[in-house]
Amino acid sequence: MRVALPSLAASDALGARIAAALLPGDVVALSGDLGAGKTTLARAILAALGHVGEVPSPSFALVEPYPAPPLRLAIVHADFYRLSGAADLDEIGLDDLREDAVLIAEWPENVGGFAHEPGCLAIALETEGNGRTAIVRRGRDWLERAGWT
Ligand SMILES: Nc1ncnc2c1ncn2[C@@H]1O[C@H](COP(=O)(O)OP(=O)(O)OP(=O)(O)O)[C@@H](O)[C@H]1O
Ligand SMILES: [Mg+2]
Repeated sequence: MRVALPSLAASDALGARIAAALLPGDVVALSGDLGAGKTTLARAILAALGHVGEVPSPSFALVEPYPAPPLRLAIVHADFYRLSGAADLDEIGLDDLREDAVLIAEWPENVGGFAHEPGCLAIALETEGNGRTAIVRRGRDWLERAGWT
């Protein structure tokens, strides 16, 4: 499915719609070129789950955890820009970090992608004029998800 994101407000709305449906174990895989709006959408999801304050772009730290509470659901925000293969994920201990949490991953293709996971919501962001377009691919678990059928 395609979702037009002509403005930051539209990205916020998509983030809220995603946040409302998330379950532990899901992964939101955000792909797209530099500046495509991946971190913007991650921020919108976190805000909708109750995060107040900054959301640093985790390109240096690689992984930024947001525990629950105060969030409704624990989130791990990761940026895999500097990684070059799924083997690197063992090194950061991603499996342990993901336990009972939702992973929001920027540059998922750098670590082999997550599309094979039934809980994966894969979103490819493209620039269109001054705004963006989101191409959304739903993993099996998302086909029955409230608000996403
Ligand atoms: N829907 C939108 N409409 C207009 N501008 C947007 C939209 N989404 C994001 N932007 C703008 O695009 C710029 C880059 O956004 P962002 O930092 O989220 O990109 P990114 O994909 O995370 O980039 P990087 O790969 O460098 O981490 C920001 O200035 C942001 O405000
Ligand atoms: Mg980013």
